[in-house]
Amino acid sequence: MDNFKWTRKDLLSLYDLEAEEIEHILDTAEEFKKVSQRNVKKVPALRGKTVVNFFVEPSTRTRMSFELAEQRLSADIININANSSSLKKGETLLDTARNIEALQADLIVMRHSAPGAQSLIAKNIRCGVLNAGDGAHSHPTQALLDLFTIREKKGSLKGLKVSIIGDILHSRVARSDVWGLIKLGAEVTFAGPATLVPKEFENIGVRVCHNLKDALVDADVVNLLRIQHERQKRGFFPSTNEYAKFFGLNEASRKYLKPDALVMHPGPINRDVELDSAIADGPQSVILEQVTNGLAVRMAVLFLVSGCVEK
Ligand code: CP
Repeated sequence: MDNFKWTRKDLLSLYDLEAEEIEHILDTAEEFKKVSQRNVKKVPALRGKTVVNFFVEPSTRTRMSFELAEQRLSADIININANSSSLKKGETLLDTARNIEALQADLIVMRHSAPGAQSLIAKNIRCGVLNAGDGAHSHPTQALLDLFTIREKKGSLKGLKVSIIGDILHSRVARSDVWGLIKLGAEVTFAGPATLVPKEFENIGVRVCHNLKDALVDADVVNLLRIQHERQKRGFFPSTNEYAKFFGLNEASRKYLKPDALVMHPGPINRDVELDSAIADGPQSVILEQVTNGLAVRMAVLFLVSGCVEK
């Protein structure tokens, strides 16, 4: 790994990455995590570089941790608010990106509701592009922080059984986690109601399961996902209460969980729907550690891609 050379100017999807590239990001993030444990939490790695944060969809964790990561790396930062930008006047996304490029920005961190929006920009401008979530397609830094957290807690991903439970159909987290987990040697189960976890997912090499107990009993890691009402155009289950009863991790279902299983959630949590508060805040939960690790992972990817952007 010492001689590994990162060559990508963009981070768009974990599907694109080789296992050794993912491992290299995680190793780099380990080093950056140490920076955040020092008294002086800042390094000059991105001094003189400009990063534009362009969030066209809401975000709390991803936006905060990208911005903090950029500050810790000493970058100059511009935040664009989509609602008060000229997108509202009909300017195209690509024209907006070309204007960012004309201002000699180096990196764009973007969240957008349209799958592929970041890829479109990355192909057409010099700046490096980091995907902070594109519709239901991809959220690579969330997957990387999930992988980092599992590796930190369990030592290795190889042979681990990871169950991702919930609204897989509309989840960019599931679609990103799965590639990283498979590439690093974990066995993945997708679980939830058949309407949200179609059997077709078996074609990508995951086990599909419509029974919560089966998803929990031998899992080393369970990752609970929120029901993404904002991406659903019809009812996928009769009621939230029924969803919580049959697929929520709660007092009734926690007995199936192994005592050393990690409980994860990308946030935001719908408390007492997919995950009971007592478990979200309990000893098996690593949910806030995921957030802490997101900072280190985002420092790592900003650092790596910035080294591949043409001047
Ligand atoms: N996990 C995640 O992407 O959270 P935010 O939407 O708050 O960024």
